[in-house]
Order: sequence, then C-alpha cells, then structure tokens
Amino acid sequence: MAESRGQWSGRLGFILAATGSAIGLGNLWKFPYITHENNGGAFVLVYIAMVLLVGVPIMIAEILVGRRTQLSPVGAFRILGQDKPGGKVWSGVGFLGVLAGFTILSYYSVVAGWTIHYTWLSFTGKLAELATDPVGLQTYFGGEFLANGPQQIVYHLLFMGLTTGAVYFGVKGGIERVAKILLPLLFLILIILLFYSSTTSGFHEALRFLFIPDFSTLTTGSVLEALGHAFFTLSLGMGAMLTYGSYIGKDISIPRAAFQISLLDTLIALIACVIMFSIINSSNIDVSKSSTILFTTIPTVFAQLPAANFFNAIFYLLIGFAALTSTISLLEVVSSYAIDDLGWSRQRSTLTMGSVIAVFGVLNALSLGGNTKLSSINLVGRESTAGIFGTMDYLASNWFLPVGGFLIALFVGWVLGARETSEELEKGHGVFAWFKLWRLLIRFVAPLAVGAIIVSVILGREYQ
Ligand code: PHE
Repeated sequence: MAESRGQWSGRLGFILAATGSAIGLGNLWKFPYITHENNGGAFVLVYIAMVLLVGVPIMIAEILVGRRTQLSPVGAFRILGQDKPGGKVWSGVGFLGVLAGFTILSYYSVVAGWTIHYTWLSFTGKLAELATDPVGLQTYFGGEFLANGPQQIVYHLLFMGLTTGAVYFGVKGGIERVAKILLPLLFLILIILLFYSSTTSGFHEALRFLFIPDFSTLTTGSVLEALGHAFFTLSLGMGAMLTYGSYIGKDISIPRAAFQISLLDTLIALIACVIMFSIINSSNIDVSKSSTILFTTIPTVFAQLPAANFFNAIFYLLIGFAALTSTISLLEVVSSYAIDDLGWSRQRSTLTMGSVIAVFGVLNALSLGGNTKLSSINLVGRESTAGIFGTMDYLASNWFLPVGGFLIALFVGWVLGARETSEELEKGHGVFAWFKLWRLLIRFVAPLAVGAIIVSVILGREYQ
C-alpha cells in the first residue's frame, strides 16, 4: 500500500515539502500586511507565542494522524475513529479538509498567477516604467490588470497547470522534486534581498518596529488575528500536514519535524517583514494601510534602484515559488482523497481534481473585474467581503481552518488515548520528554484558543 501511495525519499524531502507548503502568500503578503496594521513588536511576540502554544502542537497532531494511518484525511479519521466514540463521523473532519483545500486553491491560484504576470513585466522592463509614477501603477493594478478578465483567467490557469503538473508526478517525483529545487532558490533570493535591505536607511527602523514591543497597542482582536494567521501560514486545520505526514517513515521524529517546519516558516515571515519595511521606510512613499503593498508599492521603490528590473524580477519569482509549493499541497489534499478513498490512479485523480478546481477558480478570477480598490481582496482577511473571491477567502480562513483545527485537537487530545499518541510520537524520536506539556496544550489550550476565534466569528466581531 505504502508503495503505491508514494513516500518521501527521507527526512529532508519531507521537511522541505512541508516547509514549502507552509511558506507562501501567507508569509510574504499577509504577515507583513497584518504586522503593519497591528503596529509591529507586540503583535510579533503574540504571533510567536501562538505558533508555539497552538500551531506546533496541532502540527504534531496532524502529522501523527497521517503517519499512524498512512492515509489522507478522510480515510485517516475514519480508520482511527471507527472504534472510538463518534465512530466514522470523524471522517467528516477529513471532508472538511478536502473542501477547504478546494476552496483555498480556487482563489489562491488567482493571486499566485499575478506573480507570473509581474515577473514577466519585470523582465520586459515595463514594471519599472509603470512604477516611476506610483499613481500610475496603482491605477494599472487596480484597474487595467484586475479588470482584464481573460488575462486573469490565463494566469490563473497557468498556475493551476504548474500545480497540477507537479502533483501529477507523485510524492517523490513531483512534489518533493519541486520543493528541493524551489526552496533553496527561495532562500537564496531572500538572502539577496535581506542583504540589500540591510544597506538601506530604513533597516534599523524596520528592526525597531518589529522587535521592540509596545503592548499598549495590542487588542484582543490582534491576538485572535495572530492565532488565525498561525493556522493559515502553517497550513493547519485542513489536513495538508496530515497528508504530507502520511508519506513519512517511522524513523522520523514528528515533534522535531513540526518544530523545524514552524521555525522556518516564522523565520521567513520575519525576514519578509524586515525586507519590506526597510525598503518602504527608506523611500518617501507614504504607505496607506493597504494590502496592495506587494503589487504597487514595492515595485515603485525598486524602480528607484539601478538594477530595478533585476530586483523586481527576483522579488516576484520569490513570491511565485513560495506560492507554488503551497498550491501543490492544497491540490495534494484533494487528489489524495480520490487516490486513497475512491481508488483512482494518481494521474486520473490529479488531472480531474486539478481541472475542476481550475474551472471553479475562473469564477474567482472574473469576480475581480472592475474592482478598482483592493479592499475586497483581503486575502485571509476576517471580514466577509464582496464577490466570490472574498466569500471563498472568508469561508476558508474564518470557518474551515479554525473549525478543522478545533476538531483535530479534540480528536487527538480526547478521542485518541495517551498511550496511542505517545507510542506514535516516540517512533523515530525516543522518549518524548515534552509529552505531558504537548498533551496539555492539545487537550486544553488549543481547543480553547481556537474556540475563541470561532465564537468571535459567530458573534461577527471585526478585528482591525
Ligand atoms: N501556508 C500557506 C501560506 O502561508 C497557505 C496554505 C494554507 C497552504 C493551507 C496549504 C494549506 O501561504
């Protein structure tokens, strides 16, 4: 069975693929944006606390369920739950994950497609030209670009094509191979940009903003926002980590892997902030608090540099690479359901699911037309926003991921026994010294904290 499903070539393959899933638009777009909105320092600390207290424990739980069953979410919960209270109903958690994968991918790929267009514009020099006039770029992005339906569709389909292609070639031959090529490149580009940003005059101010906390600006809303974001950025709550965990061997330490993946994800998000804030601080551009920074302000700043085209190009390649390793994991959750549960071949499953999501995503791509303000594209934003695009995003990040995460924590913390979980966590690790702490976090802290997000969404709280 394991053979026909596929396996990673080893620890490194798994860590890179899972880190690739985690690092994405969430790190490079959403995190700098919400950190800016929430005034830096204190928010960053709260975010790190959320990752450690809730994110890492749930990631451990997901990988544990995946490896124990060697199945994707639907089958995994069905098998583990069948002789326990609740029985096969637990497979509903898996279905929720498949639905979340479908939903997120259908809009994520639209935004990811923009990076292809922007990389192209950088190479041709058109971007630098447009960016010499900040207002010009804003108008181009919000008007001409988003409103051009056919173009939006083409880039979305191109990105879905790349994603489907990678998943088609399987766990080792496709997903792992792409991650092994793209992640090192991504790190290299980040280092080049970090190095560049350290030479700018805004660097120190960026560090101060990010690392000197001022707790007086912190609100309950910021705390919940930090937690909600931790879910999205760590790819939790929908079985992506569970599915990737189903391809690892018994010789891998789950707690260590979960910690490393979360650490890398957090580091990259912080580096992205340092880069973007340094660049913006050292320009005289006044950044209105908006989520468009990535596609409007940044190129405007790069345009002032001698090697504008080069910096623009590597910047959008970086975002595209990060997005691709994430969309791959989203599609893998959906495809592996058909492989494991419906008995389809990987090829048939990937092509079918990839096409269905691509077609559905066209609706999202078209829903942006004529929208001159980006306010409705608050990616992973909290408020219910207009248009299909906004609705998909709202459903996924406010409902599917938190509810999924909540149920996963309940299942692993309360339904699976302590013996069963500790036995699995000790494989490849030896005695897990932090087991008691982990169990406390997964039984009490994680459900309560995630429950708070769900309650506040039900009450219709606004966050910012
Ligand atoms: N973690 C990805 C990001 O930060 C998004 C994602 C969410 C990927 C859920 C897979 C599953 O962009």
